[in-house]
Amino acid sequence: MEYALERLRVQCAELLAATGLVKADAVTLTDPKPNIPADLAFPCFQAARAAGINNPAEFAAKLAGAVQIPADALIGKVEAAGPFVNISVNPSNFTTDVLSEVLKLGEDYGKGDSGAGQTLTIDFSSPNIARKMHVGHLRSTVIGNSIRKILKFLGYNVIADNHLGDWGTQFGSLLAAHDLWGWSEKINENPIEELVEIYARFHKASEEDPKLRDLARDWFRRLEEGDVKARELWKWMVDITLLEFAKTYARLGVTFDLQHGESFYEPMLDEVVKEAQDKGVAKVEPSGAISVGFDEKLPSYLLRKQDGATLYQTRDIATCIYRWREYQPDRNIYVVGQEQKLHFQQVFETVRLMGYTEIAERSVHIPFGKITDAQGQRFSMRRGTAIFLDEVLDEALERARAVIAEKIAEGKTDLTADEQEYASQIISVGAVIFNDLYQDPGRDIRFDWDKMLAFDGNSAPYIQYTHARCCSILRKAGETPQNADYKILASSEEQAVVKQLARFPQVVKRAGLEFLPALIAEWTYGLAREFARFYHEIPVLEAASPELRAARLGLVAAVATNLRNGLALLGIKAPERM
Ligand code: ARG
Repeated sequence: MEYALERLRVQCAELLAATGLVKADAVTLTDPKPNIPADLAFPCFQAARAAGINNPAEFAAKLAGAVQIPADALIGKVEAAGPFVNISVNPSNFTTDVLSEVLKLGEDYGKGDSGAGQTLTIDFSSPNIARKMHVGHLRSTVIGNSIRKILKFLGYNVIADNHLGDWGTQFGSLLAAHDLWGWSEKINENPIEELVEIYARFHKASEEDPKLRDLARDWFRRLEEGDVKARELWKWMVDITLLEFAKTYARLGVTFDLQHGESFYEPMLDEVVKEAQDKGVAKVEPSGAISVGFDEKLPSYLLRKQDGATLYQTRDIATCIYRWREYQPDRNIYVVGQEQKLHFQQVFETVRLMGYTEIAERSVHIPFGKITDAQGQRFSMRRGTAIFLDEVLDEALERARAVIAEKIAEGKTDLTADEQEYASQIISVGAVIFNDLYQDPGRDIRFDWDKMLAFDGNSAPYIQYTHARCCSILRKAGETPQNADYKILASSEEQAVVKQLARFPQVVKRAGLEFLPALIAEWTYGLAREFARFYHEIPVLEAASPELRAARLGLVAAVATNLRNGLALLGIKAPERM
């Protein structure tokens, strides 16, 4: 799929080459500096040298003078400026192409095929069973979900795996706790809270009575050996936790292709440990534990404890090898907090030493920072120090309802009660997601509720509101004219909107290559801002002629579509009324 901006580049190369002064494949185009009124620039230094001309400015002038532009070209103007040839679009042709493209393709506008034939595995969210999801999981879920959508849009076959923490010695403790005390009545009402509580109680008790640790170890051994009672109870804990998680995922609109979890790899672990030993990567310690060392390169770690239990690391090694055997992914992506950086270095290096060099090289850890409050302090919700994902969403919802209620009181919207509630839901989730995605993922992100939920500024509600505004204009117009005469949209405000629309496919491509949803967030906000400038200056429904009205309505429809597309790739919905 080639979009207008890509066709423009191809045409540039062709027209410059047609002069005979430069070869098409030597035309490397760059973005002109912000103060230059052009759309593309060709720096002539190398081409001048190749043509035997010492002065690149002289060459640029000669080249620009020789270019012949056909009337139907996307290019309008070619001018020399010092050693550069600056190229500007033909506004009429370019506008017609871009708007027809957006309106014709609709939700497919921006789709690419650069990923065709390639498979990717992406591991995100991955919370722990019998625990609540915390804000770290929020970030992983939101960033991972967006990266997955972007890559799918670019044509990759993407396999999204929720690597649940559903195995490990903590289940020995939970089973032992149940053995001692059983569950309380709360278990059905608030299963996760009860599991968290009973785990904490057991932990405390075992500090006073170390024999309890043996009991927990024994229960984990029974679980690993397939003891029916242990497995049954474990399975129940997994299922009941997943029911709770499903509610959170539904709120966020997130789904997975696989939900293997760590337990899935349990049958492969003995073999993995043995293979690592056979290949000389792992060795038995005097204590009986099995460890992996890397000389000076990285700290060593355990593959098996002295009591025989496997670890998080062991299961990640097995996962990596399994993904390779099963899918041969071109990339194996992990969206996990930066505090696990060392863990993934160790995993990838172990797998490499075991001879699985391809998957080791194709595996990437995409880290992200913590969430802090508006002052940059470690974030804490009203109730305590731990920050849980559902509480964040609840708080956002409460605040979004208040914001909407205020708009109603001010007479700025006239939504029905149902529409208000729907908008509040979408705005609150959108605000939380956007606040995460527009910021540099490597850094800590700030939670500034007022900024996040603001209807003006770099926030989801502002962009959603702009979308709703476009929809409202189209509703008032009563129709979206087809095939209007777009070339009459010549004002600088209209042109700025068209150019931003034209950039979308290339922004999506870069966001995919760099695993960086922030690029799309930035672009989407940019489109909303250009639209605001346009709408402030230029009448649409009251345009001076029916032709102008029709063309501007087309522009408004294209903006609505593309705001929707941009938000969708971030995992954010765009309501039609707000
Ligand atoms: N369950 C882990 C946690 O909550 C995250 C797992 C990430 N994925 C992985 N393959 N290790 O910290």
